[in-house]
Amino acid sequence: MVPLISLATSLAGGWSCIGFAILVLLQCCSAYKLVCYYTSWSQYREGAARCLPDAIDPFLCTHVIYSFANISDNEIDTFEWNDVTLYDTLNSLKKRNPNLKTLLSVGGWSFGSQRFSKLASNTQSRRTFIKSVPPFLRTYGFDGLDLAWIYPGRRDKRHFTTLVKEIKDEFEKEAQSGTEQLLLSAAVSAGKVNLDLGYDIPQISQYLDIINLMTYQFHGAWDQTTGHHSPLYKSQEDASPDRFSNADYAVGYMLRLGAPANKLVMGIPTFGKSFTLASSETGIGAPISGPGIAGRFTKEEGILAYYEICDFLHRATVHRLHGQNVPYATKGNQWVGYDDPESIKIKVQYLRNKQLAGAMVWALDLDDFRGSFCGQNQRFPLTGTIKDALLAA
Ligand SMILES: *[C@@H]1O[C@H](CO)[C@@H](O)[C@H](O)[C@H]1NC(C)=O
Repeated sequence: MVPLISLATSLAGGWSCIGFAILVLLQCCSAYKLVCYYTSWSQYREGAARCLPDAIDPFLCTHVIYSFANISDNEIDTFEWNDVTLYDTLNSLKKRNPNLKTLLSVGGWSFGSQRFSKLASNTQSRRTFIKSVPPFLRTYGFDGLDLAWIYPGRRDKRHFTTLVKEIKDEFEKEAQSGTEQLLLSAAVSAGKVNLDLGYDIPQISQYLDIINLMTYQFHGAWDQTTGHHSPLYKSQEDASPDRFSNADYAVGYMLRLGAPANKLVMGIPTFGKSFTLASSETGIGAPISGPGIAGRFTKEEGILAYYEICDFLHRATVHRLHGQNVPYATKGNQWVGYDDPESIKIKVQYLRNKQLAGAMVWALDLDDFRGSFCGQNQRFPLTGTIKDALLAA
């Protein structure tokens, strides 16, 4: 009996070893990141567009980033009246998927660059802020911090680097108590001018775990003509091609500046940017009179959620920009440039070829998260397409 048992044990041991090796192998080589932003103000959208963190599929993304936290008296703070409840709902997703990581993003568009500037340039206020972060994140169950300073300017470059370095130092120190180290990421502009002005890429890359490159909103109503806001490549159809305003340029530029590919995550939008046409011209580079009319749910001129675009597509004309690999649609005097499953597959193939760390999505709540607008009852059709394309062999 004894040899049999020991044979069985060593067999079982051997198998679990192989099992373990396979597990490690799987984690090692298909470990693309899918970093997904969720915005707390999506809770105020009406009807089927209202989005709470419990709508998020816990297995969809590897990282979910909650936007945005405030800074009050130089300390990280909640923004919405019910943030604590929503933090809890979000972080409860980890009960179902223990591998999911959550981060809290601080700042954002409406926060104002000035306030970050003031905070980062003063040693004492920086210290106060940094000290406040780990206890806040731990209290609410987050795994890390995302900096959404939009955007550091010329005089902020040095201070931004110091801020990032000192947060990282603090996170390292805090982890010595035996807890898993908090993650640090930043949302970084993909515009060449902003990149040159405000970011010391080689320096901040050392301290950041994830660099979320915002490769969208390259075009908007500030331009006089239609243009896609998130093209993969530069326009060949536009008469005056701007060679910087595309994801390929931004990614290549970041890599040349010294951002390590294995920390760089390419942004993919689940929203479109829309224009009101000024003439009967409907192509790329057509004159515009302003932003597109606001969506029924997102209620902001010039922006449409993917679920609103699905509605818009009824009786619209869809074109694909073959050089830029993205679609746009027109109906009446409205024009919208957006991403769909087809353009997304090409973008994911691109970032895989570049051996980037993965993809970032802005934002989960702008995707068809209920599967009620875009057909086939498929929840998160765009984010799901990214996930599948990242996992594909
Ligand atoms: C964010 O913090 C600032 C500074 O303390 C404060 O004036 C503002 O009211 C806060 N915003 C919210 C929504 O709490």
